[in-house]
Amino acid sequence: MNLKLELLEPTMSKPSSPIITVQQHILQDQKRFPGSSGEFSWLLSGITMATKLIQAKVRRAGLTDILGEQGDINVQGEVQQKLDVFSNDALIHCLSARESIGVLASEEDEKPLLVHKGSENAHYAVVFDPLDGSSNIDVNVSVGTTFSILRRPEGIGLDEPEKWVLQPGAKQIAAGYVVYGSSTILVYSVGNGVHGFTLDPAVGAYILSHPNMKMPEQGKYYSVNEAYRDTFPVRYREYIRRLREGTLGHKYASRYIGSMVADFHRTLLKGGVFLYPPTESNPEGKLRLLYEANPVAFLAEQAGGTAIDGTRRVLDIQPKSIHQRTPLVVGSRVELADFERFVVQADSRQPA
Ligand code: AHG
Ligand code: MN
Ligand code: MN
Repeated sequence: MNLKLELLEPTMSKPSSPIITVQQHILQDQKRFPGSSGEFSWLLSGITMATKLIQAKVRRAGLTDILGEQGDINVQGEVQQKLDVFSNDALIHCLSARESIGVLASEEDEKPLLVHKGSENAHYAVVFDPLDGSSNIDVNVSVGTTFSILRRPEGIGLDEPEKWVLQPGAKQIAAGYVVYGSSTILVYSVGNGVHGFTLDPAVGAYILSHPNMKMPEQGKYYSVNEAYRDTFPVRYREYIRRLREGTLGHKYASRYIGSMVADFHRTLLKGGVFLYPPTESNPEGKLRLLYEANPVAFLAEQAGGTAIDGTRRVLDIQPKSIHQRTPLVVGSRVELADFERFVVQADSRQPA
């Protein structure tokens, strides 16, 4: 963990390594692509701006009238919290100002939103979960934002916004998330490794704090909502038993926050496995493929981990609808190899 932020203190002498903001990092990354116009960094700045607005609201949540329910039901049939609505508005407001974006799709909106209708320059779609972990908002526990960026497919026009976003996760050109936790951290990848930037609240900038993140080969924790264990398919239950009993070399402990983005962030840093299996009430799992599973699967793979839906690589799934759900098993190489050996292969020999 580097302490570059301290270098901003006026009493410190010359920095030993340069302070790199997320904007500088993106611009440097873009130099890899000849002819790049800087539009991608302008697009990303819409996300960084919106997430700064969201984190400012989250930080002052107990002092302002932003806690609690909005009163509406979203397309998922879930009660919208005020912070869900604020976060959605912030992202739409900031991203609508970017001419390179043609389509925005959000967890909170039934249909994708067409922006800059008719602009020749609009060739990106951004899909997002504006506020992940809604049940944790009112109790001061980490929440987050996830996003996925796709390029407009060849030959698809502005009259077919759904087709812009119904692409397998392997087609993402960038993905990431922000965790509003004990600090605010942005983690993203453009397919060139995973990099983390901590928001320095004093200067309002995301500063590179976690360059080239790698998920440990194996971890100590599994992360799942154990309350539903009796309704998981039998081999998921067996897998969790293996972890608890020490079949992989040590007995696992569990951690479960209930905000996917925070549970995944811990898994990225510490290793282990996060699961949201099929359950009785959610036979397809609960998490949404396009804006929850795909971004974390992209980051997991970029960091040396694995993400499957219980059988297939998440990034290979061809989505059929925007709010489609998927089971998710994501984590370190060792835990996922064991899952594939004892759950996926066993399933293929003898279907449950
Ligand atoms: P959201 O707040 O965007 O609707 O997402 C909540 C999700 C996810 O963050 C978390 O992993 C999961 O819901 C927790 O669900 P359970 O309460 O069923 O464990
Ligand atoms: Mn969510
Ligand atoms: Mn959400």
